[in-house]
Amino acid sequence: MNRIAILISGRGSNMDAILDRIQSGHLEAQVAFVASDRPDAKGLEKAKSRAIPTEVLPYGDGKAKGEAALQNLMDRHDVNWLVLAGFMRILSEELVLRHQGRIVNIHPALLPSFPGAHGIEDAWDFGVKVTGVTVHLVDHLVDHGEILAQLPVRIKQDDDLESLERRIHRAEHRLYWRTLRSLFSGELKGRKEGSK
Ligand code: GAR
Repeated sequence: MNRIAILISGRGSNMDAILDRIQSGHLEAQVAFVASDRPDAKGLEKAKSRAIPTEVLPYGDGKAKGEAALQNLMDRHDVNWLVLAGFMRILSEELVLRHQGRIVNIHPALLPSFPGAHGIEDAWDFGVKVTGVTVHLVDHLVDHGEILAQLPVRIKQDDDLESLERRIHRAEHRLYWRTLRSLFSGELKGRKEGSK
């Protein structure tokens, strides 16, 4: 069985969408815990209300302490996949290498365009006509690593930033669990793994 940990920093709507699909039986996985670098992350309450164990990682004491706590939890809970859902920290190369090909992230733009913390806004400000969402394997760079799946979102004439944000989040909630399902079932292989 796939034992996953979900990492968040904020609202947790992507986490929620994944938990919905696990609950409905569409995605086969067990969530060992949800962890955040921020004690005030709204998503922690949502996870608690679903009776999922939650943890706050001590990033306030530095990245090394935050990651050591994360590694400890992963070992203790036998976690084999890390699912980043709005987790706004860059993982160290050491942690990434230890779990290579088993850390997944979602980004609200079509990478490699508009990485960073403001993907939707940056695409909007640039004036692109098509943006979208990307699910990718994580490396130690910002929103970087092998792309697993993308979903385009067209910018409409009457869009404003808010309406675009809503559609991007809907696209994220559609794409993330499906990509995880393909990845967990072995149907979707990382390119490097697939070419071995
Ligand atoms: C999501 O849009 C996610 O793609 C983005 O943070 C948001 C979290 O929302 N992540 C990044 O920008 C990573 N660079 P959520 O907490 O409601 O899932």
